[in-house]
Amino acid sequence: MAGKLTHAVLVYAVLIYAVLVHAVLIHAVPVYLEGVRMAARPGRSLAVPEVRGPEVREDDFRAVLGRFATGVVAVTGLHRAEPAGLTISSFTSVSLAPPLVSFCVAHTSATWPLLRDAERLCVNILAESQAAVCGALAASGGDKFRGLDWSPSPAGQPVLDGAIAWLECSVEAEHRAGDHDIVVARVHRLHAEGGAGPLVFYRGGFGRFVAG
Ligand SMILES: Cc1cc2nc3c(=O)[nH]c(=O)nc-3n(C[C@H](O)[C@H](O)[C@H](O)COP(=O)(O)O)c2cc1C
Repeated sequence: MAGKLTHAVLVYAVLIYAVLVHAVLIHAVPVYLEGVRMAARPGRSLAVPEVRGPEVREDDFRAVLGRFATGVVAVTGLHRAEPAGLTISSFTSVSLAPPLVSFCVAHTSATWPLLRDAERLCVNILAESQAAVCGALAASGGDKFRGLDWSPSPAGQPVLDGAIAWLECSVEAEHRAGDHDIVVARVHRLHAEGGAGPLVFYRGGFGRFVAG
């Protein structure tokens, strides 16, 4: 009887041990590793996991958010002395003192990993005539800057010819949010050109701003 009891206790102990090891390997280790990854970047934090409510369909999400008209920027920088950049419509101002802006970058971006650790980046606000520039920098792979004219900003980052304004920034923080990262950037220098109107992105197409 005592032998059977000892055996049962042993079996339970092994089972509990196995469950604990499983929990640590499956849940705690990835969370720990993510923490280490983010802690290596000062000012960066863990945030929202990638969970989408079943009640929100992707098509509906796109259709509804497409009703929100935005401008378009090209975030540019240098990687190994070569220009790199991507098209962004999720750009917005965040804070005046200190001067902060933000934009969201998909985890699938091949360009962002090349730029995120750069000392300086340039946010180019695109003009209504720059839909082709927007398309070139939205393509993944290849030489995105082929045929694009640019000159260096004071810190040497690509300012695209024809952009209506530019901001030289450094990444202040990155917050993981679902399938994107929210990038908060500090503005160091900025400049606006007169004249041309902005490129407007609305319901998947491009237009221009007409004062009412
Ligand atoms: C008008 C427009 C706006 C876009 N806005 C964003 C955005 O805010 N965030 C983002 O991650 N991708 C955005 N994209 C898609 C990226 O530009 C594109 O996926 C990316 O640059 C692909 O190239 P990469 O893999 O070299 O990064 C946008 C594309 C277009 C055409």
